[in-house]
Amino acid sequence: MVNTPPSSSQTWSQRFESALHPAIARFNASIGFDIELIEYDLTGSQAHAQMLAKTGIITPEEGEQLVAGLEQIRQEYRQGLFQPGVEAEDVHFAVERRLTELVGDVGKKLHTARSRNDQVGTDIRLYLREQITQMRRQILEFQAVLLQLAEQHVETLIPGYTHLQRAQPLSLAHHLLAYVEMTQRDWQRLGEIYQRVNTSPLGSGALAGTTFPIDRHYSAELLQFGSVYANSLDAVSDRDFAIEFLCAASLVMVHLSRLSEEVILWASEEFGFVTLKDSCSTGSSIMPQKKNPDVPELVRGKAGRVFGHLQALLVMMKGLPLAYNKDLQEDKEALFDSVKTVRACLEAMTILMSEGLEFRTQRLNQAVAEDFSNATDVADYLAAKGVPFREAYNLVGKVVKTSLAAGKLLKDLTLDEWQALHPAFAADIYDAIAPRQVVAARNSFGGTGFEQVRQALQTARQRWLQSEAAH
Ligand code: ARG
Repeated sequence: MVNTPPSSSQTWSQRFESALHPAIARFNASIGFDIELIEYDLTGSQAHAQMLAKTGIITPEEGEQLVAGLEQIRQEYRQGLFQPGVEAEDVHFAVERRLTELVGDVGKKLHTARSRNDQVGTDIRLYLREQITQMRRQILEFQAVLLQLAEQHVETLIPGYTHLQRAQPLSLAHHLLAYVEMTQRDWQRLGEIYQRVNTSPLGSGALAGTTFPIDRHYSAELLQFGSVYANSLDAVSDRDFAIEFLCAASLVMVHLSRLSEEVILWASEEFGFVTLKDSCSTGSSIMPQKKNPDVPELVRGKAGRVFGHLQALLVMMKGLPLAYNKDLQEDKEALFDSVKTVRACLEAMTILMSEGLEFRTQRLNQAVAEDFSNATDVADYLAAKGVPFREAYNLVGKVVKTSLAAGKLLKDLTLDEWQALHPAFAADIYDAIAPRQVVAARNSFGGTGFEQVRQALQTARQRWLQSEAAH
């Protein structure tokens, strides 16, 4: 294993006479978590070295030596041979020290015209850029599963709720497609944020730029950044991009958590709309009959972590004077944990929806036939025959009340009873209130009518293909 020199090795200028207190060194260090950035740090440093060589700030040979040395560190890291400890303080110092061990004094030239402030800013943007791309891919995989399920369940009915009270029956596909729409906005939002993450702060120096004739556009181009920050102060102290990422990540979690909550309800004995497969549920250590929906419960629970990180970054930023302040070191754990959490939840929910549960279609179709969720349709029936809607609404309220008292459903009323209520009722009322017809009739754009749902499914499928092609 490769060891970095002990903490007595000089990091700071000669201004410092004694080493840091060991506890303060540990408190100050970020190496324990920012090692996660190492590959991006190496890539960013290679681009910086190439830029230094291109602009004649160092010689081409020196540039090549630096790039090769950095590449060697990458290999050492990948083989598990490079494991810097707390003495390195952070990943940036760890890499620079190792580089100097490997290539000699030329290693000390790498930090010319650069500060750790623009360096760390570059690293987290490179990291986040990659993570956003992966996360968007995962969103598409999740959507593919929902689309496939929706395809199978256009004609499956499910009770629709408002206030968690039975409201109107739905096509199950319509319900699932609502989540496709939500996650499509997530996919889009992350894509928009990517554009702003994809801006290079490199070459902004500590805060004011540099005296060297650098070429920021060249290093940005090497790192495939879409643009460069126009203001050096802004470049080294902006974390808007991280905060908006955490906003978008929080919304992904809101959506996953809402679906989780529904699955948890659906899996209960009271609802009984889905059965959980053994591969995605767990048992109780004491109650042998139980099958618990741990996966959606964990997703619902983990949402809070991501919201917390968003809050932490907002609070961390709000009082910071320009430009860099050490507080900014706190951005990393918030970002890393959020990325890991969201990605793990997307993966788990994709598996849960694709192979972890089964909709009990018979039970679902039955459920919608046993309630008053067709009451609106009776009112609509009368309104279509010229009875003012509010009047019809009141009449139906009355018939619901008397039916409830008599232990009957609307479908059990005789034609005489209907006609006693209002002469406009005819034999076709029974068709109008049959659950399948109740769903089919909602054929307005964006509604649950089967025809609309088939259209929506097709549109969503086409859009999915386009999104997929964009990756
Ligand atoms: N570890 C530091 C961070 O994560 C790197 C930047 C340090 N800059 C400084 N001026 N002390 O923010």
